[in-house]
Amino acid sequence: QAPLHISNEPIKPFNGDSSDISKLQEALTKYQFKSLEVPLIINGQKIYKDRVLKNHINPSNHSQILCKYAQATKEDVNEAILAATASKAKWAKMSLDERAAVFLKAADLITTKYRYDLLAATMLGQGKNVYQAEIDCIGELADFFRFNVKYAFEMYKQQPVASSPGVWNRTEYRPLEGFVYAVSPFNFTAIAGNLFGAPALLGNTVLWKPSATAILSNYLLMEIMIEAGLPNGVVNFIPGNPVEVTETILSNKNFAALHFTGSTKVFKDLCKEIYSKDHFREYPRIVGETGGKNFHLVHPSASLEHTVLSTLRGAFEYQGQKCSATSRLYLPESISSEFIQLLKENVKKIKTENCSINIKGFMGPVIHEQSFDKLAKAIGEAKEDSELEIVSGGYFNKSNGFFVEPTIIKTTNPHHKFLQQEFFGPILTYYVYPDSEFEAICNIIEQNSTYGLTGSIFSQDREAVIFASDKLKYSAGNFYINDKSTGAVVGQQSFGGSRQSGTCDKAGSASLLSRFVSVRSIKENF
Ligand code: ALA
Repeated sequence: QAPLHISNEPIKPFNGDSSDISKLQEALTKYQFKSLEVPLIINGQKIYKDRVLKNHINPSNHSQILCKYAQATKEDVNEAILAATASKAKWAKMSLDERAAVFLKAADLITTKYRYDLLAATMLGQGKNVYQAEIDCIGELADFFRFNVKYAFEMYKQQPVASSPGVWNRTEYRPLEGFVYAVSPFNFTAIAGNLFGAPALLGNTVLWKPSATAILSNYLLMEIMIEAGLPNGVVNFIPGNPVEVTETILSNKNFAALHFTGSTKVFKDLCKEIYSKDHFREYPRIVGETGGKNFHLVHPSASLEHTVLSTLRGAFEYQGQKCSATSRLYLPESISSEFIQLLKENVKKIKTENCSINIKGFMGPVIHEQSFDKLAKAIGEAKEDSELEIVSGGYFNKSNGFFVEPTIIKTTNPHHKFLQQEFFGPILTYYVYPDSEFEAICNIIEQNSTYGLTGSIFSQDREAVIFASDKLKYSAGNFYINDKSTGAVVGQQSFGGSRQSGTCDKAGSASLLSRFVSVRSIKENF
């Protein structure tokens, strides 16, 4: 077999080439006026009729309905389980080459034929600007599909290293015996692709419940998978009421794995539900990536401008709605005033706007009204709290879209709940520590968060880096030195954290794939 050429998909800058921009604008127009009806897809069949319908609205302009989508009933979910079970027989027997070809072709369709459609669907439905959409539904999505293929081949190649005369030992990477339940979040189309894609590549079949607020892009992705040759029933697309869908799935003994990205609370509830049952045929594998309270720790030796701009990007790109977003900042006293001054100057240049109209915009809306209300409430609380001071932003407006200004809050209490709670929006809280107490602040960062997703140290002092890296070993599954806490690249930094941030199985790695196989050791005597 010729070696696979795999590299990260280049990101289009959308800053000069007018043909790129006009193709994108065409796609944006098409998706706004399409009145799309999104069906369930079960065993390759599109099901829409007689189902309860919901609206997917544009968060930048909430009077605009982007599509209506069907909700799966209990019977639909049971049909999807039957389809997943039936399609497994053939899919699992196909060679890895044949299954890989589907994902490699899908990656090519994503980056060529459907690039502008996927960008438009992600920008409109999930409120991203063009750059955030590119790095998600084009770059990261295609990278997940391609790199997973590479990792799968590497995994299958791992065979016993010893044998005895007259004996042939071998290792077989079987898919799990039952089906996989993939539950995806709104914030990354790429994550949705990996949640169903990683298990499916290995011969598993999947029930995929997309997020209600990412239906437009996720449905398009499902259609791309079908065009790429994914056989009927291998992945079943079942938007629906989360409680009802989950209840039906978990009442089936063939449930074999949960592949989840979303909130810590929902993940914990799902885990409790799974552990409370003992009718499953196999011990379910549980793989989850959840919340974070990600830190930037700045040492007095840090390069100021770079750290300020990294903080601005980490905290406010995609409105702070990345699980990896920077939401707590620790500044040394000696540079804190200059740092905040520069950060404020840059933040003041940011305008919240509809980035599908001004595609060069930096910041769009938050995803929905519940999120907007939660953030508005937190900002309201901050205004009342004597230990907090809003130094920039603090404004919000939902007359057209769900817009929350980038907000910077200072606290005088290093243990304040604003340094511990996840808001999932554009709120950055900072604390200023005395320069001489760098080690003490590392201890506080370590102790004050139940999460362990991402975090960064900015320092030119190697001793400080070594100290923080050791002290914060379990505070961040993705630990960055002189870089922002967001933006892991598939194949370069696998992604995921521990503690309350997830099972640390690392999206974009061979170790993730190992969770979706059931390994069989075979010994043959000659
Ligand atoms: N993988 C995404 C990031 O690193 C969430 O920002």
